[in-house]
Amino acid sequence: MKSNVFDYKQRAIDIVSKMTLREKIGQVTQIVFNVDNINEACETIRKIQPGSLILCWSPLGGKEEQRSVRIEELNTAQKVAVEETECHIPMLFGRDVIHGHHIAFPVPLTMVQSFDFDLINQAYDSIRQEAISDGVKWTFAPMLDMSHEPRWGRIVEGPGEDPYLGELFAKACINGFQTDNHSDKGAMLACAKHFVGYGASEGGRDYNHTEISDYNLYNNYLPAFRSAVDCEVATMMSAFNDINGVPVTGSKRILTYVLRDELGFNGFVLSDWGGIYQLYAHQGYCENSYEAAKSSLTAGVDMDMTCNCFLNNIEKLLEDQEITVQELDTAVLRILETKLKFGLFENPYAENIGYNKDEHLALAQKLAQESIVLLKNNKNILPLSRNAKVAYCGNFKDEGIEMVGTWSLDFDRGLIKNFRETINEEAPDIDLIDFDDNNCSAEDCASNTDCILAIIGEKREVTGEASSLADISLPKSQIKMLKQLKQSGKPLIGVFCFARPMAFGKDDDLFDAILWCGHGGTKAAAAAVSVLLGDSEPQGRLSASLPHSVGQIPLYYNALPGSRRINGYYGDIDPSIKNYYDCVGAPNYPFGYGLSYTSFKISDFSCEREKVNKQYIESGKKIKVTFSVENTGTRKGICVPQLYIRDLVGSRMRPLRSLIDFKRIALEIGEIVQCEFEIGLKQMGFYSETGEFLLEKGKFELYLGEDCLANQKIVFELI
Ligand code: BGC
Repeated sequence: MKSNVFDYKQRAIDIVSKMTLREKIGQVTQIVFNVDNINEACETIRKIQPGSLILCWSPLGGKEEQRSVRIEELNTAQKVAVEETECHIPMLFGRDVIHGHHIAFPVPLTMVQSFDFDLINQAYDSIRQEAISDGVKWTFAPMLDMSHEPRWGRIVEGPGEDPYLGELFAKACINGFQTDNHSDKGAMLACAKHFVGYGASEGGRDYNHTEISDYNLYNNYLPAFRSAVDCEVATMMSAFNDINGVPVTGSKRILTYVLRDELGFNGFVLSDWGGIYQLYAHQGYCENSYEAAKSSLTAGVDMDMTCNCFLNNIEKLLEDQEITVQELDTAVLRILETKLKFGLFENPYAENIGYNKDEHLALAQKLAQESIVLLKNNKNILPLSRNAKVAYCGNFKDEGIEMVGTWSLDFDRGLIKNFRETINEEAPDIDLIDFDDNNCSAEDCASNTDCILAIIGEKREVTGEASSLADISLPKSQIKMLKQLKQSGKPLIGVFCFARPMAFGKDDDLFDAILWCGHGGTKAAAAAVSVLLGDSEPQGRLSASLPHSVGQIPLYYNALPGSRRINGYYGDIDPSIKNYYDCVGAPNYPFGYGLSYTSFKISDFSCEREKVNKQYIESGKKIKVTFSVENTGTRKGICVPQLYIRDLVGSRMRPLRSLIDFKRIALEIGEIVQCEFEIGLKQMGFYSETGEFLLEKGKFELYLGEDCLANQKIVFELI
């Protein structure tokens, strides 16, 4: 039951018809909630009658833990709006609940590595229960910015480099927050952000200019947002960036023609923090606040986040006939319809709906475990023996808190255990012998230990908003220490806690095994230790390519073909024409990659037809491909077969490969499972630069395997 039964559209019209101008202007305004002085906050509410309060006290909220808000405070404020104002319209309380609330789940880029979108959906369902119980009705998530920029701090907040994973992430997250019954008091409003193109920030520098062709926009940046609209996402946040010289927050083309007319969005659009102010203050797109208010409102922004540009200018803009009453009413109507649809008028007050903390912790650990990618495991050094003598080192060896990740405003510190505590608890017979920068004698390591275990990572403050890095190689001090210890001849196991893709090609050989853990949230250490010890199977797959070096960026698997026999990502075809003289063209680890403690054989790959009629596919029918998967190793495990497509000849060049489907299959030792995928219009077609969906005749290659380098190939033809 997605839509409310009663006619909220008509109700919104009735309410608007009775509203004064000041009330309408209040409705399109979001202000910061001053929790430290509740009386002052209530006074402001009486005066402005804002549509929404943001529960975040600075534009860089993601970099700070912030004072949690108590339900009583929210209800005191809400009472003013509902009972003491003429229009009695409840306010929406918004907060950045991005990947967890009291219990942090892995950051989005990490959790998508699970390739388990049912579990991600359950995670967001539990995040919702915690957040709504604290009175947060509206979250500024999911962040759906596809990005090819590991230097960009915010890549960790989104689904990575693949549009299809972006679509699945959007669905899992939005349905988890909004639930099946939007008007239920337990449902939250989601906000898909940042619409659109923020992930293309030039050079990975945050808040930067973006240059995105329309062909690229439709095929790579928009799909996740299209999926969000299909899930009836309640709200969208306009992005800070410009696209090709026009700031999105002032772009009617993007916010109205593309978002509403083409994608069919019918919720309301919120600007980002200061997004309207920036149009005149920084971007040189508007003369002043008056012009910026006009530009963004007429472009399609319905609510102003914290700039007060709507609040201070709309009355004058109307007087001057620079905007029409209908334009203002349209924005107010969209906000009211959304509030009505989500039952805010029926249930304006916050209420603790209760939740099962232990279940959420178990879920957080499961998702963190499933998200861990085993990058290498020479000579099967992992799982780690439970009575090993370990040279224990690394800048994260006593870390727990940093792995909660960016945007963890409300996480419960008391629930977090660090690596050392966790290893000691889970495997008391493992002897952790400490080594560090000042104490890294290879002789001591050689005579007293069986292996080296290095837990290394990046702090959450260097990830997320305004946290781009020019150097994404491994920390130099750590590498220096590890090179020293490695002279002992002992195998080196790396547990990597970096939230973004790192470029460590030059140091890769130092390691005999690597667990790529990302920022795994509250249960990060427990999850990593469980995989390390073999209590759970490594099963994550990379959601973004890991380059060898920064110089290769942008490096992504679904690139368009080059103009000569050059195809670096998939290996140099012709040794005389390389992508780089000084570096291979291929990534250090490709998209979709991840090892297991067992091994799998994928075989019998076939397609039910060699030739398919175009009309057949256009009519909505699909063709089947089948294959079998066998566990050929000595442990149970999870295989993630992935299906990629390449349209060989098109009116526009098509990517070398695009992920179109995958499965997660649990297999006992020796078990064989028969599987199938179906492919149809969506998988075969693409968007033109005008947004037209095209299906073109010709040959298609399908690749099946365990990552994007999949080498089993079949060809079919659309005739
Ligand atoms: C960020 C948004 C966030 C907003 C509110 C902005 O600086 O770009 O992603 O939702 O702040 O905290």
